[in-house]
Amino acid sequence: MSIKIQTLSGYMHEYQKSVLQPEAFWSRVAESFHWKKHWDEVVQWNFEEPKVEWFVNGKLNITENILDRHLYTHANRTAIIWEPNDPNEKTRKLTYKELYEQVNRFSNALRQKGLKKGDRVVIYMPMVPEAAIAMLACARIGAVHSIVFAGFSSTALADRINDCEAKVVLTSDENYRGSKTIPIKAVVDESLEKSPSVESVIVLKRTGGKVDMKEGRDYWWHDVVEGQSTECPAEEMDSEDMLFILYTSGSTGKPKGVVHTTGGYMVYTQFTFENVFQYSAGDVYWCTADVGWITGHSYIVYGPLLSGATTLMFEGVPTYPDAGRFWDIVDKHKVNQFYTAPTAIRALEAYGLKPFEGKDLSSLKVLGSVGEPINEEAWHWYHDHVGKGRCPIVDTWWQTETGGIMLSPIAGITPTKPSYATLPLPGIQPIIVDEKGKELKGNSVEGNLCIKFPWPSMLRTTYGDHERCRQTYFSTYKGMYFTGDGVKRDEDGYYRILGRVDDVINVSGHRMGTAEVENAINEHPLVVESAVVGYPHDIKGQGIYAYVIADMTNRTAANLENEIRETVNKIIGPIAKPDKVQIVSGLPKTRSGKIMRRILRKVAEGQTDNFGDTSTLLDPSVVEEIIKNRK
Ligand code: PRX
Repeated sequence: MSIKIQTLSGYMHEYQKSVLQPEAFWSRVAESFHWKKHWDEVVQWNFEEPKVEWFVNGKLNITENILDRHLYTHANRTAIIWEPNDPNEKTRKLTYKELYEQVNRFSNALRQKGLKKGDRVVIYMPMVPEAAIAMLACARIGAVHSIVFAGFSSTALADRINDCEAKVVLTSDENYRGSKTIPIKAVVDESLEKSPSVESVIVLKRTGGKVDMKEGRDYWWHDVVEGQSTECPAEEMDSEDMLFILYTSGSTGKPKGVVHTTGGYMVYTQFTFENVFQYSAGDVYWCTADVGWITGHSYIVYGPLLSGATTLMFEGVPTYPDAGRFWDIVDKHKVNQFYTAPTAIRALEAYGLKPFEGKDLSSLKVLGSVGEPINEEAWHWYHDHVGKGRCPIVDTWWQTETGGIMLSPIAGITPTKPSYATLPLPGIQPIIVDEKGKELKGNSVEGNLCIKFPWPSMLRTTYGDHERCRQTYFSTYKGMYFTGDGVKRDEDGYYRILGRVDDVINVSGHRMGTAEVENAINEHPLVVESAVVGYPHDIKGQGIYAYVIADMTNRTAANLENEIRETVNKIIGPIAKPDKVQIVSGLPKTRSGKIMRRILRKVAEGQTDNFGDTSTLLDPSVVEEIIKNRK
């Protein structure tokens, strides 16, 4: 049995132990798993290179801890409940035994396609159980999965396939999303024109829509699993062997492949899942994220399934066929823990209370929030109307890079405060620093959030470019992991995340680099230069505001704005489309040519004076024009 926190004093006690004796603490947690060979040392680390290893020389396979282990005790418990996009289509349920068999059959199929330990597989699939089966099958044979959210464009997909040189791509014919059908196999076909490393594509039949199948490259999922054995020996993995790569945006350059390894990720996601949500056997847990994001990895698939939980996967969107869909699903499957993003809460809030009519929601015990700061109003709405005032809200702060939840209340145990992620989980040692890296001690301080001690599920590197990992996370403040977030610690020692302090914006809980959006905009043939900033948006949290210098000879501004949006859609995907595009004749630059983003941010926020020190500004008339034509 792992450690299960049950009281506030229990939390404090475990937290103390985790800081004073981290090795003993994590040993105790890790002992509850099945290891093929015990580790020699709990942790070895330095944040200079950086080099971090957990459960050193331990051998295991994570799927044995998800599948084989649970067969002995609860083979017939439901592992996955799948709720389709269309409420009239049948729900699917897979027991642990069925999941075991399907994973093994698909693992054998992947091996037959020549996949070996260490090979990379890109998964570009809808939210169906086969997406989870695909992840686990990769892990079973030691292949490294890299999921790309199926809303990304063919260019974005090709970039990711090429960066990790994937051998195999897994996809489906089409994808349902609300009332729309999206031809995702066609997107894969387009991206493969630019991706020479891919040898095979396996296509799941989801809608039955027409697809082109390329002879010798493309195979149907149902054909490749046909006749495969339901037994597949699990590859022996080192604790530090790669489990997956997940691409995420940063403040510069192209998205980077965050690398997570096997042993530490397993231990931490299971531990945090069970504790934060206070999951008990038999509960039905539902996280509304997509498996294309880290939340889906850690808290739809790995954490819950490692805990032997029943995890619900939903294929659709919150507003289809109507804005009561989430609550219908909660009632239909008697969901106990519900985990979603503030943007979804705010979007539903806009529909008023009518969607709650006739809904019971009495099964709910715990509500979770993730992905962006939750504003107080949304927190109260969630608490009052969804949780009926009786369910604790766990506001969980973490990142793709952290692998698991870092700051969060323990449900029903840590007293909550609206919009506060409250306290660090056991093993997490946050530190607040000022711009110069000086620690801000005590309470009632505000600064940049760093972590000063390693935790088991932290990123190990960025794929193919370790120096970038060092630069991005470990060089700003010496000897610490820098999160990129601003934070406040209040008079009670509670943490409140204030948002990113770098050029990363968070749109509807999706992380976007401003440079990435600018690069996409600049692909438009008439664009000369652009600058992108975030601005507060009622539903999305942040919206994207683009200032663009363009050749207007043959276009009207309105035409060009739409074309620019379309260009971004094509190069990244719909989630990156700017909300506002302003055509400008110049950008505010310093004498040395640097764009003064601070000014652009303020104008986008609606502020038209008080720009601070503008003495280095090359041409003040540019700012006047920008203010005058503000969108
Ligand atoms: O700014 C923080 C915000 O989301 C960023 C991480 O984004 P991503 O890697 O896509 O992972 C999202 C899901 C874990 C963080 O740097 N963020 C995440 N959770 C919260 C949050 N901001 C405030 N409160 C949160 N609970």
